[in-house]
Amino acid sequence: MTRKIIAFLSFLAVSVTACGSQPASSPGGSTPPQNPPSITAPQASPIAPSLTPLMEGKLLFARCKACHTLEQGGKHLVGPNLYDTVGKAAAQKKGFVYSKAMASSGIIWTDENLSEYLASPATYLPKNRMIFVGLRNQSDRDKVILYLKSETMPDFVVPKTEETQTEDVQSEDSELQAEPESEP
Ligand code: HEC
Repeated sequence: MTRKIIAFLSFLAVSVTACGSQPASSPGGSTPPQNPPSITAPQASPIAPSLTPLMEGKLLFARCKACHTLEQGGKHLVGPNLYDTVGKAAAQKKGFVYSKAMASSGIIWTDENLSEYLASPATYLPKNRMIFVGLRNQSDRDKVILYLKSETMPDFVVPKTEETQTEDVQSEDSELQAEPESEP
């Protein structure tokens, strides 16, 4: 009887030890797993093939960078610093000389107005001084505005859905490449 129990216990011990040597499944054994699952790994893998809309917006903003800074108190370049511009009245930046057209436009930079402006600045506001051919693709405009907001609106939180919409990114990528005339 005791023999049987001892034999059984040693069998158990062997199987537990065997289990314990497999890092992935340590069933409460005394040896901690060798490779604990990494809970700090970022959600989006760095080798993910699709960029998030926010990342795409950042890339698109490369077209604006020559003329605009984004950070609070940033320099005016050819165009005004854009901190805290979205949602506000146009032509409010101190120390920047706007065109008459812009200064007297009465525009409020809602997402919609901004999107129309960026689609074709010269059409939206004739005689304004932003020499930019425009972003023809609606989704490019959405992304650049998303990026602009995330960088320049103090309380802006990037919506979750925006970050996870990666599906249509690739097709838009190819549209983007097919539009050389939209380069500044
Ligand atoms: C070649 C330089 C240039 C480029 C490129 C450019 N801008 Fe501008 N931008 C300007 C100038 C100049 C103004 C002021 C226009 C005026 O006073 O008529 C302006 C004005 C603006 C305004 C209004 C600012 C305010 O204070 O009311 C916004 C918003 C803006 N630009 C966003 C963008 C974005 C986004 C891009 C890229 C997609 C871009 N701009 C590309 C030169 C540029």
